[in-house]
Parts: sequence; C-alpha cells; structure tokens
Amino acid sequence: MDIIRTTSELQARADRVRAEGRRIALVPTMGALHPGHISLIAHGQERADEVWVSIFVNPTQFNEASDFEGYPRTFEADVEQCRAAGAKVIFAPTADQLYPEGAQTWVEVGSLAEPLCGASRPGHFRGVTTVVSKLFLAAKPHVAVFGEKDFQQLAVIRRMTRDLGFDIDIVGGPTLREEDGVAMSSRNLRLGPVAREQATVLIRAIQGAERAVAAGECNARALLENVRKTIGEPPQATLDYAELRDPESLAEAPPTLDGPTLLALAVHFSPDPDGQGADVRLIDNRVLVPQAADTSRPSSE
Ligand code: PAF
Repeated sequence: MDIIRTTSELQARADRVRAEGRRIALVPTMGALHPGHISLIAHGQERADEVWVSIFVNPTQFNEASDFEGYPRTFEADVEQCRAAGAKVIFAPTADQLYPEGAQTWVEVGSLAEPLCGASRPGHFRGVTTVVSKLFLAAKPHVAVFGEKDFQQLAVIRRMTRDLGFDIDIVGGPTLREEDGVAMSSRNLRLGPVAREQATVLIRAIQGAERAVAAGECNARALLENVRKTIGEPPQATLDYAELRDPESLAEAPPTLDGPTLLALAVHFSPDPDGQGADVRLIDNRVLVPQAADTSRPSSE
C-alpha cells in the first residue's frame, strides 16, 4: 500500500492503473477511521480492482474553527486499518494540494443542499462538493463509495456527479452501528462517557418512529412530536433538527405520509458535567416505509 501526498502523483498513478484496464474505487474520508469506513472499502473492492482511500480533514466544510481543530486525527492507526483492509493507496494531501494559494473556485449544488444540515451548517455542502470534485479529479476513480449515515451528503454528491458529468458510479454503504445502536461516526470519539450513553437517543427516537409507522401512524406531526419528546429527555442532548422529507428530492414530507419518507435527525451533545468530552453534533436517519394499507387511511389531522 502506498501513501501519496501530491495530486500530480495520484493522477499519474490513476492514468497508469486505467491504462492497464484496472478499475479504481475511491473511498473519500476525513480519517479517524472506524469499521463503518472499512465496510466502505469492502464495497469498493466488490466493484473495482483497487480501492484507494483519501484522508483529508477538509477545512472548507467546517463552520467553526474549533470543530475543525478538534476533529479527531488518528493517521497512523488509519494507515494500519487501510493496510489490513487491503486498500492499495492512501491519498493524504496537504491542504495546499487541494486548495492552492489564491484558490477561488467552488462547486455548489442548489436546493438539495439547502435544508437539514445545509440549513444548520451554512456553506458545509459547498465545502464538501468542492473537495469531493477535487478528489475525483485527482484520483480519477470509476466508483466512489460514501456512507449512508450522511444521507443528504450522499444525495448532494450524487446530484453533483450527475450535473457535472463525472463518469463515476456513486455507491452508498449502509450505516454500521455500535452494539447499543449508535451509528458509527468519527465524532463519537469526542463525546464524554456520559454523553456517549445519551447518544443512544437518536436510534431510540428512530426506532420509536419506525414502530409507530409499522403500527399505522402516518401523521407527520404526531411522529415528529414523539421524536422530539424522546430527544428532549437526556440532559446533555439538544435537538438541532428532526424532519420528515422525501428521500429523493428532500422536499418536506406531506402532513400524511404517503410513501417512503426520510426521518433525518441532528442532535447536539454538551460536554459531561465533569468537563470530559466536547460539544458534539451527531446525525442519523432512517427511511420510514408506511404500510400500504395504512397509507390509504385518512389522516388524523
Ligand atoms: O464524509 C466525509 O468524511 C467528508 O464529508 C468527505 C466526503 C470525505 C469530504 O470531505
């Protein structure tokens, strides 16, 4: 496995691999790798001859300097995990490789990037789509794999890929969870032990909504009230958003759910009372599928 630091070297490597008729899968990451990332490598290996992992904590997608500075960086351990998983290349550029002095070009997706995390974190998706475009141009992959935990990010990247005509197959990898159901995320490392226990509130809220929908509840307001109530319980949790949206367009769901509907959650956790941990924002999601029989029932609104 090789560690490549410059865009020009990566592009030359991509040209050679492509000339040999071999397919490249890229797994873009910001490091602090966990089994969820490793599962994305496995998805890449099913679809390409070589998997390349990029590790770059992208400054332009952070809204707060403290979040960028505090983002976990575990490069040596990441390298070992990539090696063990059979990745062929790690691309770990310095910032100036992707953002040369005076860079002033951005890639920005429209309305799909506006709600949910786009509303909570203005400019976030512009940073993501800009860096992902640069990674695509550097690695020239046939396939790129992203986690479904970042549901909106995946949707935005699919749209960008289509709109800009990148000849790249975008693949989503299912969310992996810890034993207690918390979605694997590099940010979990920043939670204090007490906040980490309280972080199960996201999956509990999701499962509650899922059970309600399975029992025939299709009323969006009632579903969201219960989700908000659950998330309001742990003392260190503060709701950022809980929304029901169309999984394709991300448009707001109708008052009575009439088909598969995305439940998207973002919750802030404060540091533990003894000061351990940081302010951490976690996201999670689930596509709720109302029972066909139930969707024909009149709304209780
Ligand atoms: O999902 C992430 O880790 C990042 O947003 C990505 C796609 C690597 C871009 O920096």
